[in-house]
Amino acid sequence: MSGPGPENYTVLDQSSPNAARVLTAVLGGKDYYSNDRVIAETLTRSKIAPAITESRRFARRAVGYLIDHHQVTQFVELGCGFPHPPNIHDIAAERTDTARTLYIDNDRLVAVHARALMTAQTVYTAEIDLTDTTAVLDAITAQFDMSAPIALCLSGTAELIDDAPAIVAALTHALPAGMWLVLTHVTADIHGHHIDSAARTLRAAGIDYYPRTYDDIAAMLTGYHLHTPGLVAPHQWRPELLGSSRYDQATEPLHPAVWDLAAYAAIGQRHRAERRTQFGCAGDS
Ligand SMILES: C[S@@+](CC[C@H](N)C(=O)[O-])C[C@H]1O[C@@H](n2cnc3c(N)ncnc32)[C@H](O)[C@@H]1O
Repeated sequence: MSGPGPENYTVLDQSSPNAARVLTAVLGGKDYYSNDRVIAETLTRSKIAPAITESRRFARRAVGYLIDHHQVTQFVELGCGFPHPPNIHDIAAERTDTARTLYIDNDRLVAVHARALMTAQTVYTAEIDLTDTTAVLDAITAQFDMSAPIALCLSGTAELIDDAPAIVAALTHALPAGMWLVLTHVTADIHGHHIDSAARTLRAAGIDYYPRTYDDIAAMLTGYHLHTPGLVAPHQWRPELLGSSRYDQATEPLHPAVWDLAAYAAIGQRHRAERRTQFGCAGDS
């Protein structure tokens, strides 16, 4: 059997660090090169590391919350990174066999790993750059029932994209009212010295990084009702829900009263009527 011709080969650049590989190194994964590891080791010594890991833990908790309390069964992870159990579909599969998950990333190696490792019939993978919101929307509409609730999960990714607020706004306007947004974002409002220094390290390695302020992140949630407790540090978002997944046993959560995390997190539902009002907390269960 003959393989693809050289014109179809993809050459992976191993010479410079890359966001997905650095992140997998920070999370304890295996798919990185030595220059990614050097950056990851610097980040691991910084207060950005707990902000990243707790943001991811919050996003997984958010998926369980949306299934258990709001019967959401369609999830899109925007900038999914390398697979790390529990992935969104792992959390969903604990609760229901009807959930579907679409993973999107612009990193070729991430997409290859995601396709190879996440083979459930209810899991879809697309290699798309989020700045191409038309392609993102096409992928969503191709896989999902647009008359049923959909949750977009943007966790740990908006920080890497200059245009993230415009991307969120475009997707928000295009998707049906009632859709959900799970958002986490690193900030330099807290531990500013650590976060600015980590951002400089990433930028010096060729990885764009944009910590945003509380007001900037709140503005990205315009048009959404935020569920209680609103926009808070990830570990402060309903920590009592920890324990609802068997994966929660794997690592000890941070104590909300003790830790000051350099990130914000929220779950919002887009207003059903087209009211572009200030964000605020909605009643919830
Ligand atoms: C830090 S990882 C976050 C992974 C995962 N969401 C999590 O919470 O652990 C960010 C991912 O976003 C991807 N990414 C960055 N910019 C992107 C873009 N413009 N379009 C699509 N994916 C992007 C990177 O390749 C990387 O895999």
